[in-house]
Amino acid sequence: MSAQQMLKVFVTRRIPQEGMKIFQKAGMCNLSVWDSDEPVPRAELLKGVAGAHGLLCLLSDKIDVEVLDAAGPNLKVISTLSVGFDHLAIDEIKKRGIRVGYTPDVLTDATAELTVALLLATARRLPEGVEEVKSGGWSTWKPLWLCGYGLSGSTVGVIGLGRIGLAIARRLKPFGVKRLLYTGRQPKPQAQEVDGEYVPLDTLVGESDFVVVSCSLTPDTQGLCDKTFFSKMKKTSIFINTSRGAVVNQEDLFEALSSGQIAAAGLDVTTPEPLPTNHPLLTLKNCVVLPHIGSATYSTRGIMSELTANNLLAGLTGSEMPSELKL
Ligand code: NDP
Ligand code: DGY
Repeated sequence: MSAQQMLKVFVTRRIPQEGMKIFQKAGMCNLSVWDSDEPVPRAELLKGVAGAHGLLCLLSDKIDVEVLDAAGPNLKVISTLSVGFDHLAIDEIKKRGIRVGYTPDVLTDATAELTVALLLATARRLPEGVEEVKSGGWSTWKPLWLCGYGLSGSTVGVIGLGRIGLAIARRLKPFGVKRLLYTGRQPKPQAQEVDGEYVPLDTLVGESDFVVVSCSLTPDTQGLCDKTFFSKMKKTSIFINTSRGAVVNQEDLFEALSSGQIAAAGLDVTTPEPLPTNHPLLTLKNCVVLPHIGSATYSTRGIMSELTANNLLAGLTGSEMPSELKL
């Protein structure tokens, strides 16, 4: 392909080499990469995307009208290195006939596994325990010290029994969970596999010992977990969120945790990201915060990178994408 025929692609971050190798092998793109582990500054994004036929972006890049305008009419495809697509202005993208690739399924296991790890770490107070060992707070074995909550015989409620929600439920059931409740927009036939009971949100919140949020962020789920929501939870319940930070009203969560309204919370996602180190939630022993590492295994990130590159190439050539978001 001559230099003039090469299609321009802007990549907003350094990505795992698996994806880069696919671009190199295809030899049809003039790649411009924001070659850093840090997010591309907005001005550089607007500059870099100008005239691009393809855009490979991350969940931290807000792809809105301004970016689409800056890209101009060449833009055929946006491929995001994520399954979540709340950072994309979908209506506007659809209006302009741009195709979207994303990464469902390939990160489901890694994210479900991390969710279970976070749930156990939060319920059994692992970060507190580790800290006590390091600081000399461990004086002897004490019957009432660092007690938490176990899954055996418990009721777990999953908000959003999608790909990841179901994978979480599958992993939690063998811990001896007695009832598995779920809520969403409609009952799911696949819930049978985990004996899931479809219940209204209020029932789930009120009856669950563990509330796990794994829904997508939409206008309906934004701020779903607020004061009213936490006030319905049991005082002994644990709240876990590995979806998106904006599903939670963090001021209300802080109040619920600090007043003893709920027992503890584990969050892999926050608003903003990163959460400022002086954020009130970080002062609480009963709040475990992770830096959005749900899909962070070497192999998963490599496969995500490959899929993102293949989606983008398919979008450029007008062929079937391995994972296209149906707009
Ligand atoms: P799916 O689309 O398979 O699942 C999303 C679920 O959200 C569906 O079950 C859907 O239910 C549910 N949902 C949508 N609207 C509502 C609502 N109003 N109330 C309750 N549930 C609702 O996506 P995945 O499982 O693959 O991913 C889910 C999300 O997890 C992603 O969108 C992303 O934000 C997040 N994620 C986070 C990661 C991390 O690193 N922490 C890693 C990967 C993903 P229904 O089908 O009934 O509409
Ligand atoms: C996603 O894919 O949406 C996650 O948040 C990161 O893997």
